[in-house]
Amino acid sequence: MGFVKNAEDITKMRQGGKILAEILSELKKMLVPGRDSFELEKEFIKMCRKNKVGPTCKGYAPYGMPPFPTGLCLSINNQSVHCFPKKGVILKNGDVVTVDTVINYKGLNVDAAFSTVVGKKENALKNTLVNTAEKALYETISEVGPGVRIGRISNKMQKIVESQGLNVLKDYAGHGIGPEMHEYPEIPCYGSVNDGPKLMEGMTICIEALVCTGDDTVVNKSEWETCMADGGYFAQAEHTILVTKDGYEILTLKNK
Ligand code: MF3
Ligand code: CO
Repeated sequence: MGFVKNAEDITKMRQGGKILAEILSELKKMLVPGRDSFELEKEFIKMCRKNKVGPTCKGYAPYGMPPFPTGLCLSINNQSVHCFPKKGVILKNGDVVTVDTVINYKGLNVDAAFSTVVGKKENALKNTLVNTAEKALYETISEVGPGVRIGRISNKMQKIVESQGLNVLKDYAGHGIGPEMHEYPEIPCYGSVNDGPKLMEGMTICIEALVCTGDDTVVNKSEWETCMADGGYFAQAEHTILVTKDGYEILTLKNK
């Protein structure tokens, strides 16, 4: 039952979620042609300090993996999950960029990600990719509620994505979140409506729409960094969501 959060934890995750949403919206403004991708990392660390939150990814080292080197995951074009911003990697007009990160606020984590096209948004395939990841995220979030099977989310995600001629990644998934960045349950982007456990009120979950333009096969470029094997484009949209009595609350949204 550790995965069902108490009122105190929920309050902290709600506050952390607002901070993360604010930080990601500032980072999004920095995604312009000519920008060194590592400048986003520097700005992120600065904003973490200012908001008294920890960059959870930085130094993250599960099961014998080398420590993750940065606070941000940042992927460009055919790069897939768990890539990092690097000094000298300059964003170009038309790049598909994904920013994914986790922060820790008072011992609780929140996780969110978005993709966008840098500069002029003139490429129909890239626009469809980025928009479909976001649409698949919000439309699957609308299914969330107590008693809902994870498979309902996974199955709907896959259908939305494939209806656009795109594919979901199968090797990575959404997840529960709380004191740990990755908790029970796993939330795949594909499957049947009868798959997986049922959601319960008080669970905090990350739904991740992991989408690609080509074949979903991912290859490792290093212990962490991955890319699409066929060179296709990758995009991601992710929020941290609380399962409430009547449905859901998206924790990683900005105040309106
Ligand atoms: N949203 C990503 C995930 O759940 C965040 C990864 S952070 C990293 O996998 F440190 F593991 F890279
Ligand atoms: Co995640």
